[in-house]
Amino acid sequence: MFQKVLRYTGRHRKTTYASILVLVAGVAMSVLPYFFLYRLLRPLLTGGSLTLEETLFNAGAMALCMVLYSLLYVEGLALSHRSAYHTLENLRLHLQSKLEKQPLGAIQEKGVGVWKKMFIDDIESMELLLAHALPEGLSNLAVPVVVFAAMFLTDWKLGLLSLCSLPLGVLAMGMMYRSGMSKMGDYYAAGQKMNNTIVEYINGMEVVKVFNRDGESYHRFETDVKNYRDFTLDWFRACWLWMALYTSILPCVALVLLPVGGYLVLAGASTLPDYALVLCMSFSVGPPLIRAMNFMSVLPQLSYKIDQMESLFNIPPLKEGKTDFNGNDLQIRFENVRFSYEKDEVLHGISFSVPQGSLTALVGESGSGKSTLAKLLVHFYDVTDGRITLGGQDLREMSLASLNEQISFVAQEQFLFNTSLLENIRLGRPGATDEEVLAAAERAQCGEFLKQLEKGIYTMAGDGGKGLSGGERQRIALARAILKNAPIVVLDEATAFLDPENEEKMNAAIAEVIRGKTVIVIAHRLQSIAGADQIVVLDQGNVAGIGRHDTLRKTCPAYEKLWRAAEGAAAWRVSAEKGGDEA
Ligand SMILES: Nc1ncnc2c1ncn2[C@@H]1O[C@H](COP(=O)(O)OP(=O)(O)OP(=O)(O)O)[C@@H](O)[C@H]1O
Ligand SMILES: [Mg+2]
Repeated sequence: MFQKVLRYTGRHRKTTYASILVLVAGVAMSVLPYFFLYRLLRPLLTGGSLTLEETLFNAGAMALCMVLYSLLYVEGLALSHRSAYHTLENLRLHLQSKLEKQPLGAIQEKGVGVWKKMFIDDIESMELLLAHALPEGLSNLAVPVVVFAAMFLTDWKLGLLSLCSLPLGVLAMGMMYRSGMSKMGDYYAAGQKMNNTIVEYINGMEVVKVFNRDGESYHRFETDVKNYRDFTLDWFRACWLWMALYTSILPCVALVLLPVGGYLVLAGASTLPDYALVLCMSFSVGPPLIRAMNFMSVLPQLSYKIDQMESLFNIPPLKEGKTDFNGNDLQIRFENVRFSYEKDEVLHGISFSVPQGSLTALVGESGSGKSTLAKLLVHFYDVTDGRITLGGQDLREMSLASLNEQISFVAQEQFLFNTSLLENIRLGRPGATDEEVLAAAERAQCGEFLKQLEKGIYTMAGDGGKGLSGGERQRIALARAILKNAPIVVLDEATAFLDPENEEKMNAAIAEVIRGKTVIVIAHRLQSIAGADQIVVLDQGNVAGIGRHDTLRKTCPAYEKLWRAAEGAAAWRVSAEKGGDEA
């Protein structure tokens, strides 16, 4: 386990070793006073006498050792913390670099709570291992080993006696480790679940309040918190007996030594001064042993956390080529594309192509796989089977960066970073000047609502863009795409926020985004795509029809059904508006 963690210490590995050395020296200083104590006691046992100088020297040496112990301890911990926090930094950066290469699906499926726990809590808990358990634990173990050797050198019989309690303690420790590990999976999973539930509970507070679901969602919250408590207690129950046993037995070096050693002295097999020396030494190993023991109980947890993190590092990354985009043109082809998020397949062999410069609309019922297809095209995920090509080149052969240069993707749900709106739009093209950003915002019909904000485009977007309305957030995203000006535009139109005024603005903004581009638009308002060059109708993950509006209405029942529903919705809106007038 130490080996695993040491890999992440990087260039601070030397500091870790130095801290161990300094702490070993420190612990040695904590043991030495017992030796000087023995030198004070020996004349009393052998009937000799001590001069004042000798007394002062031994007492002074004891005091000096204690001062040195404190100094070395502080310095050792300073070193160990320095290397520990650099290692945590390395771990977090390493985790991030792995995360970046993962398919988006693998990240989203785990949930924010799990990631937060891993990035923040779990990595933070490594501090205990790196700054304390490793250097302090090791040094506190190393010194007793030396002391035991000294005991053997003094009198091997007494040395042996002092080791008697060791096998019992080690056995109890092994049992603790085993039962701790067996419960660790459940304990850890309960912790992750609780984390996810808490994050979800807080993020979903709005829905909870609106639908008066306080009780229900509090119930889930409460259950997960209780479960976590139960699993933690379960874990403790499995361990506490063994923990109590080894923490009490291991440091009690005098357990057998005191009575049996005394008998040996009386029987003449050992001498009284040797007995006194070994006893003094045995008292000195107790405190370091107890300190080392304190770290043992956390080792199963830490070992589990490291394994969890390593297993994450081993998820196959997204297949991404090193070469730049080198397709012949901008024709997009889906060739027998199959895809599953988890077990169930959601796309069952989709084939169609989008000629350069054309406008293709994807339509289909909710859940038919439109957004999934768009996300595959921008390589958020790898296709499970089949392939997607751009100008004849497989997406998996080009780097994500070069694919990104070709495609602007406006997703169905918008996320804004909590910086100014200006910076949020500038993400489309990081080198753009303020004037260019403002022009893009204007073209995306953001001008009017920006004017109403006190700080205009310099307003902060709020956490995840919460400071803006849904329609406003979308237009900011469109401005981003206009600024990016990539030759292909993939637009996943949002279903909500379609009040007439916003709809008009959205249409104008979208017209700006797609002008002169190769476009795939996922449309929920069928009226707006009746003029598309090509309409692809998806039905439960299959292509139900491809063609132009007029032909499809006659030949594709799924399309006809969508149209009827769309007309029904329009009629519903008209009658609702009329009703409003009459009232
Ligand atoms: N992250 C995900 N993990 C697992 N399943 C998913 C995930 N996202 C979507 N799905 C499933 O894949 C299927 C297709 O979803 P998709 O979002 O592509 O539909 P859509 O056509 O865009 O629907 P809508 O019109 O409502 O936006 C659905 O059955 C959905 O439940
Ligand atoms: Mg969708």
